[in-house]
Amino acid sequence: MGKTIIISNRLPIQLQIHNGSITAIPSVGGLATGMKSVHSGGDSLWIGWSGLTDEEIPEELVGDIDAALAKHGSSKVNLSQQEVDGFYYGFSNRTVWPLFHYFLEYAEFEIDSWETYKKVNQKFADAIVEKAADDDTIWVHDYQLMLVPQMVREKLPNISIGFFLHIPFPSFEIFRTLPWRKEVLEGLLGSDLIGFHTYDYERHFLSSVRRILGLDVSFNDVYLEDRIIKVDSFPMGIDYKKFSEAAKVHNQLPPEKQSELQQRLNNHKQSTPDAKFLLSIDRLDYTKGIAKRLNAFEYFLTKYPQYKEKVRLIILAVPSRSNVPQYQLLKREVDELVGRINGEFSTVSWTPIWYFYRSMPFENLIDLYTSCDIAWLTPIRDGMNLVAKEYVATRTDKTGVLILSEMAGAANEMNESLLINPNNFEQIADTIHQAIEMPIEEQQERNDILQKRLERYNVERWAKDFMSSLKEQKDNSSSYVSR
Ligand code: ADP
Ligand code: G6P
Repeated sequence: MGKTIIISNRLPIQLQIHNGSITAIPSVGGLATGMKSVHSGGDSLWIGWSGLTDEEIPEELVGDIDAALAKHGSSKVNLSQQEVDGFYYGFSNRTVWPLFHYFLEYAEFEIDSWETYKKVNQKFADAIVEKAADDDTIWVHDYQLMLVPQMVREKLPNISIGFFLHIPFPSFEIFRTLPWRKEVLEGLLGSDLIGFHTYDYERHFLSSVRRILGLDVSFNDVYLEDRIIKVDSFPMGIDYKKFSEAAKVHNQLPPEKQSELQQRLNNHKQSTPDAKFLLSIDRLDYTKGIAKRLNAFEYFLTKYPQYKEKVRLIILAVPSRSNVPQYQLLKREVDELVGRINGEFSTVSWTPIWYFYRSMPFENLIDLYTSCDIAWLTPIRDGMNLVAKEYVATRTDKTGVLILSEMAGAANEMNESLLINPNNFEQIADTIHQAIEMPIEEQQERNDILQKRLERYNVERWAKDFMSSLKEQKDNSSSYVSR
C-alpha cells in the first residue's frame, strides 16, 4: 500500500516573506482546516501552492521555502503572477466560484483565464506524476483543480484517483452556461471516485454528465468504455475533539490567563447580565450573505426594539480574494452598513455591532465560540459551512443556539438547529427572538443530538469513508470489461 498524495490549490499553511525571513500562517477555509487534521494523522504528502508567486520568492530563499513546507509534509507548485491572475483570481474565482454558487451575474467567461486554468492544472498534474508511485492514492481537492484527474490519468492510467468538491455543484441549468462545461466534466471523470458534500450536488453532477456528455449513468455509477466512476456524497465533518477539548481547556483558564478579547467579552457580560451575543464568522465572501445579514439585523432591532442595548452582533470577517472586484465592493458595502447601523442605533453604553475584519488565531476563535449565546450563519449558498459545526462542538455545557441558513450544505445534517431562509427577514427576526428566549433545557436537548452526530461523523471518519470507498471502487473497476 503506497502513500496518499493530497493535492489542492491551498496548502495547510501560507508562506509570507518579511524582511528576508519566512513566516508560515495557517490557511483559512474549510478545505485547509478540515484536511489539515487528516494530513497530520498519516503517511501523506500534500502538494499545493505556497501562496507566494515566483516573482515574490528571492532566489536565495528557495531552499528555505522548500524546507519550511517540508516541515508540514508539503511540497509546492510554483506559480507566476500571471498564472495566479488567470488561474486563481481569474477562472477559479471569477468564473467557477460565482457560477457554482448560483451568482450567474458575477460569472465571467474569459478565454484567456480558461487557457491559464488549463495550463496551471497541467502543472499540478505534472507535480503529482513526478512524485507518485503506481501504488499511491491521489486525492485531488476542489474547484481550482477540476482538470487534474484526467491529466494524471493520461500519464498514470492505473493509479487510484479520488476527487472531492468542497463547494456546491450547481443544477444542470446553471452549469450548462459554462462554455467549457464538457472539458470540465471530462477532467473530473479522470477520477475513480468523485465526492460531494450532499446528495443534491451529486445528483446535479450526474444529471450534467448524462445530459452534456450523453454518458451511461446507472444509480451513482458513470460508465466509460474501460472504467466505471463512482459518484457519491460524503458530508465533511470537523475535528470534533480538537474543538471540544480546546473549549474545555479554555473554560477552565483563570482570568489572568485569558486573552484580551475574552476579558473584553467577560466585562461586557458582567456589566449587562441579560445581554446576548450573536456571532457570525465567515470569509468576507458574497456567498456568505454578510450584507443581507446586516440588513436583517437592522430589521430585527426595529421589529423587536426591546432587545436594544441587550443584543450585540459580533461579526468576524476574514479577508479573502481581495483582488477580485466583487470582494472589494462587498468590503465597502459591509463597512458602510456596519457604520450606518451602529450610527443609527448606538447609545452611550451600547454599540450593536462589533466588526472584526481580520484572521484570528485559533484561541480567539474558541473565545468567540464559547462566549456567544447564538451563532447566526446565513450563507446564500455554501458547500458545507464548517463554522456551524465548530460552534456546536465548543458548547461544552450544551447551551447555545445555532441559527443556520438552509442553503448551507451543513443544514442537511443539522436539523436540530433553527433553519432559516437567508432572504426572509421576517422569519429571521422571529427566529432570533425565538433563539434569545429559548429555554436552556431545549438548547441542551438540541445540542446534545447535534454534538453526538458531529462527534460520530467527524473529519477523520469522512476521510476514512472516502478512502475506503475509493479503494473499493478501484477494485471493482479493475475487473470491469466494457459493455
Ligand atoms: P469556507 O470554506 O467557505 O471558508 P467554512 O465555514 O466551511 O467556510 O470554513 C471556514 C474555516 O475557516 C473554519 O474551519 C473556520 O474555523 C476557519 N476560520 C474562519 N474564520 C476564521 C478566522 N477569522 N481566523 C481563522 N480561521 C477562521
Ligand atoms: C473555500 C474553498 C477552498 C478555499 C477556501 C479559502 O473553502 O472551497 O478551496 O481554499 O474557500 O479560499 P482561498 O481562495 O483563500 O483559498
